[in-house]
Amino acid sequence: MQERVSWGSRIGLILAAAGNAVGLGNILRFPSKAALYGGGAFMVPYFIALLLLGFPLMIVEWVIGRYAGRRGHGSMTGILGLFFNHASWARILGSIGVAIPLLICMYYIYIESWTLGFAFLSLFGQMPTPVISSDTHEAVKPYVSFFKEYTKPSTMAYLFLLLTIAINWFILQKGLRKGIEITAKIGMPAIIIFGVFLGLICISANEWKGFEGLKFIYNLNFSKILDPVVWVEASGQIFFTLSLGMGAIAVYASYAGAKEDVVKAGLWTASINEFVEVVIGASIAIPAAFAMFSAVAIPELAKEGTFRLGFMTMPAVLMNFPSGWLISFIWFLLLFLAALTSSLALIQPLIALFEDEMKWEHTKAVTVSMILITLGAHFSAFMPDFIDELDFWAGCFMLLGFGLIEIIVFVWIFGINNFYKELKLNTTLRLPKLFVYIVAIVSPIFIFVILYFWVIRDFKNVVFTDSITKIVARLFILLFLVFLSVIAVKSREIVMRDIRYMRVMKK
Ligand code: PHE
Repeated sequence: MQERVSWGSRIGLILAAAGNAVGLGNILRFPSKAALYGGGAFMVPYFIALLLLGFPLMIVEWVIGRYAGRRGHGSMTGILGLFFNHASWARILGSIGVAIPLLICMYYIYIESWTLGFAFLSLFGQMPTPVISSDTHEAVKPYVSFFKEYTKPSTMAYLFLLLTIAINWFILQKGLRKGIEITAKIGMPAIIIFGVFLGLICISANEWKGFEGLKFIYNLNFSKILDPVVWVEASGQIFFTLSLGMGAIAVYASYAGAKEDVVKAGLWTASINEFVEVVIGASIAIPAAFAMFSAVAIPELAKEGTFRLGFMTMPAVLMNFPSGWLISFIWFLLLFLAALTSSLALIQPLIALFEDEMKWEHTKAVTVSMILITLGAHFSAFMPDFIDELDFWAGCFMLLGFGLIEIIVFVWIFGINNFYKELKLNTTLRLPKLFVYIVAIVSPIFIFVILYFWVIRDFKNVVFTDSITKIVARLFILLFLVFLSVIAVKSREIVMRDIRYMRVMKK
């Protein structure tokens, strides 16, 4: 059997994992959600979900990832199989954990291409001229039509999509160390420097009026503590931003050495991500909007969605600064770098599936993966509703459900004691056993309650539809699940053959 690749260094591993987690979720999705659900009122469920779901699941994925990596598996198909003697049903169930990141990537990469396109347009002075007005609608108007024209998609948008796909393809082809790790080593420090710079500019803007925006987010209060919608959204954000519930963290962890301190690595990943979310992410978009418009405008702006804040309101504000083109360029470059290090992580599970389970060589695995992504990205670009449909099913529903499956298999079925033993292996941090009980009991109840409320709230409205494009999107998701299931079953033979071979060799 081939030796599995591994990370080049400790710092490389941490930065790669941080790059995985830090993405559009931190800088765009988080401020939009916080603004929409009342700032400080959103942050209370948010921090509770971080403690009870985020940190625990992060550690679970790291511990299990290292465990499975030592046994030659990185994708959820192989990892889930590992716990059930590679039974077909377990491998099929695990395929969901490969499908989720892949489906997310199909629209994520398209949004990533907008950030690259807008960065170029800012740099070359092609963004609309700002309108000086305290009326939000007036000020944002030119940017709204610009965005609509761009995402039609225009030829320019299409070319940037192809370029973004090519960049991802190139980096992944270079491999784990020379591709993903190096990108993270350059990207992560740049993200933090640009982020802090923009945060300072936005908070101090308009004689520190931007600071009000930060106060709005940190005015912690319990006014929405009984609103299930806010809980669902806050927990969904924790999953999304920390890349949990889909094996994206586990696959990176599977390339860690057997001696790696995964508890520390998990805590580092979560801490860096949260720094970029609740410190940097909180200091840019919302303060910028506060500085320029009145506080009353904020919830209204946020209501119009994540894209509105990032691609329309933000340039409208930033282009007003002296050398606005440059600040707007830095903003979109920051978004692009954050998105890039995440899209690589969204594709790696599929590459790992092909390499570990099918035993394909690297180039073949990358090529087939990228062809599938390119196909999906075209659907996102040319079919209305596709993005929203994928975001709902893969980016919310399947994510929470798979998080629950992870806990059941990795903690319950593996056994509390086995899991704790594996967790304690090679770590200097002594997490008490109570931690495992929280993972085993509190986290699943939490997820279950959220799913329950969610089904009550959304399911009926979302499931029944007569929109042709939505039905096509769902068929696409289904087709993908079937495709991955076929691979899961077919590759079982290969894995079993290897196991038999190893047994013979041992004798
Ligand atoms: N965590 C990323 C973000 O915040 C998204 C992501 C999810 C990336 C899952 C990889 C895997 O944007």
